[in-house]
Amino acid sequence: MKEAAAKHNGGEAFGHKPDQDQERFILSAHCPASFELIAGECSLVNLYQFYDSVQQRGVGGTQTALPEHRSGFTPEQIDLGRYLFFDPLLSKDGSLSCASCHRPELGFSDGRDRSIGITGKPTDRGAPSLWNMTFLTSFFWDARANSLEQQAQGPLYDEKEMANTPAQLLASIRNNAHYPDMFAQAFPDAEGPSLEQLYTALAAFQSSLISLNSRYDQYAHGFHQALTADEVAGLNVFRSFVARCAECHQPPLFTNDQVAVIGTPEPDGLPFDRGAENTFNSPKLRGGFKVPSLRNITKTAPYMHSGRFGQLRDAVEFYNKGRGHAVPENQALQLHWHIWEPKLSDEEIDRLVDFLGTLTDESLLPQVPQVLPSGLAPVSAQPGIARQKATTITTQASGKPITEGI
Ligand code: HEC
Ligand code: HEC
Repeated sequence: MKEAAAKHNGGEAFGHKPDQDQERFILSAHCPASFELIAGECSLVNLYQFYDSVQQRGVGGTQTALPEHRSGFTPEQIDLGRYLFFDPLLSKDGSLSCASCHRPELGFSDGRDRSIGITGKPTDRGAPSLWNMTFLTSFFWDARANSLEQQAQGPLYDEKEMANTPAQLLASIRNNAHYPDMFAQAFPDAEGPSLEQLYTALAAFQSSLISLNSRYDQYAHGFHQALTADEVAGLNVFRSFVARCAECHQPPLFTNDQVAVIGTPEPDGLPFDRGAENTFNSPKLRGGFKVPSLRNITKTAPYMHSGRFGQLRDAVEFYNKGRGHAVPENQALQLHWHIWEPKLSDEEIDRLVDFLGTLTDESLLPQVPQVLPSGLAPVSAQPGIARQKATTITTQASGKPITEGI
């Protein structure tokens, strides 16, 4: 039975196979595009791997190497993570999946200033994009998690987010008609399903979300026609020592994976967010946040940790309005030394925005599962909506299936 089923799906590429062959969910034995199967594991293949290290090229250079990344995942683990990521079964009441707040069509963000969790109330911060997570070493705006596995336990068990408990989560996976078989496919040598395997699979899937083939990248690899004159002008402002954007938003990831205090404003009426001060117990980092990647930035409005800026141009203009202009009077923040007064012209700000628009690449968007092992709809369009079957949600105005337009 196992062999016959595997054969049935065997020839099809990752993500383009039927989700279910009647009785079983057969996990893909193929790596996602941009990965090569080497010794049973998916290895990233990318042009940047041929370049020298960041250190040797200086900040802002186009042909710089990528930092190290997470690897060692099998195709089956990545594919299991894909199902889990979209499955609302992971939340306490079956109403929210990871993808409810990290929506593929919104750059894996959710279009909200602050995310809405299971209670229908806003959480404290906005949902970051999940592209290129594989290269990062700390997670959350305040860098409080050191691995994707640790990170996932935040939303899963946070009362304001998915509000599950480890015991209930494990029971719902183990009692499901399909997941035990799928975990066995993904982790053939271990007892399961276990929560560790679930975290690993989620990490594996997220490590496959690669966005490194934008028009900017084509330009970086030597195809100079890929950018217009205005966009090149914007790139030059971006990496100039006047604007200093590339000091923190370092190519090719457009983040240096560090925390910086830049003094962004909170939404009106909300208390000051101490950010990384709490994580590192360091007053120097009060109001410090992780430098976000700017890849696919046109998809992930609103901007900054609490979505204060609705437009990309406003987020860019923030840097031009004077060092510390938005810091509340009662807060003495130690602003990063690269935050200063670049006195950019309106024209230069426009060119920066033009340039940021070249960082879009969604060619490796994963396929959203049509059918989930739980039978629930892959993404709940509105948090708080009770359990609904995949078959009914597509007919409802609020339940527009996320698979459309991908
Ligand atoms: C209720 C909405 C919501 C749900 C559901 C949710 N997230 Fe998030 N996610 C967020 C928010 C908000 C943040 C930022 C929180 C913070 O920094 O304090 C975040 C942060 C992250 C980060 C860190 C990104 C970075 O750049 O540091 C990762 C990775 C992530 N989420 C993955 C997941 C996974 C995996 C799941 C499912 C297990 C999930 N999220 C479920 C809203 C959500
Ligand atoms: C000192 C480091 C530093 C420098 C220099 C810097 N940034 Fe940032 N950038 C950050 C940090 C940290 C954040 C997140 C702040 C927050 O959420 O409150 C951020 C956020 C952003 C965002 C919003 C991203 C998102 O996903 O919400 C944009 C856009 C941006 N920066 C563009 C720029 C541009 C353009 C420049 C140059 C004019 C620049 N940055 C210079 C550190 C820096």
